[in-house]
Amino acid sequence: MEAGRPSRTALRAAHSRARHQNDPRRILTDPLASKILHLDSGGLPPLPDDPADLYSTRFLAVRSRFAEDALAAATADGTRQVVILGAGLDTFAYRNPHTGLKVFEADHPATQAWKRQQLAAAGIGIPSSVTFAPVDFERDTLAGALASAGLDRSRPAFFFWLGVTPYLTRDAVLSTLRFVAGHSGPVQVVFDYYGEAPPTLSPELRAKREAAAKMVAELGEPWLTCFAREDIADELRAMKLDPVEDIAGRELVARYIDEPVPDADPIGGRVIRAVGRGEPVPLCRTSPV
Ligand SMILES: C[S@@+](CC[C@H](N)C(=O)[O-])C[C@H]1O[C@@H](n2cnc3c(N)ncnc32)[C@H](O)[C@@H]1O
Repeated sequence: MEAGRPSRTALRAAHSRARHQNDPRRILTDPLASKILHLDSGGLPPLPDDPADLYSTRFLAVRSRFAEDALAAATADGTRQVVILGAGLDTFAYRNPHTGLKVFEADHPATQAWKRQQLAAAGIGIPSSVTFAPVDFERDTLAGALASAGLDRSRPAFFFWLGVTPYLTRDAVLSTLRFVAGHSGPVQVVFDYYGEAPPTLSPELRAKREAAAKMVAELGEPWLTCFAREDIADELRAMKLDPVEDIAGRELVARYIDEPVPDADPIGGRVIRAVGRGEPVPLCRTSPV
């Protein structure tokens, strides 16, 4: 991200969710998506005609829907804390349907300050369940930021981390996941990542991938990290997070919308749900004689 500037990819993602509200096959119902952008229903941006662009819009909606569905299941099992990492203009905190669920929004300070202005200008109230934790994943420790915000590391927690990993260094991605893994209460995380470009990528798809990379780089937020499936799975297991689901974006969209998806996704976006295993409690240890 450019120093001192709010994230422009966060603005793009928010526009995409607002456009998605016009989709006859809407997956994510978010009445605040346009409000936080100060767009009324007449000003909602139209849906893209191009099938690849329509798919991208749906992917952004489906990753949120998937995370929110998994959170709903966790709240039914007693989770009362959710941390939205790199929240951008995500509106879950302001339409949270779960009684007693505390929401922590952790984001880059410049983006978070801008979001708070957008919320105020849109007249969206901040519920008492919401706490802001400004943090730079590349420089600060999440532990410090979230401890000050009141996250209880011994109680169940759920983490959303959507649309963020490509923009961080590998070290920052892994240290953030290690923080999640170090939660001593039961923990789950849903995050997305981009796949590495396979050598077999067709020239046409390679050109699309390059165009997408160029666009975000021009916004000052270049892609820094992508993962091969086995690589991220190994990293997660090494830190005692089980990747119980790792789903291609195309499969996820098809899971929610019964319509054909493009044959290939040049970016290879995937969504993971990982669950903390925690350390087995040593009940008895045999010491060498
Ligand atoms: C593409 S936006 C996604 C926002 C939101 N999760 C969504 O789905 O709309 C990327 C987010 O990552 C955050 N981000 C990028 N680099 C960061 C960093 N070093 N520290 C904290 N947040 C960062 C930005 O502030 C922004 O909110």
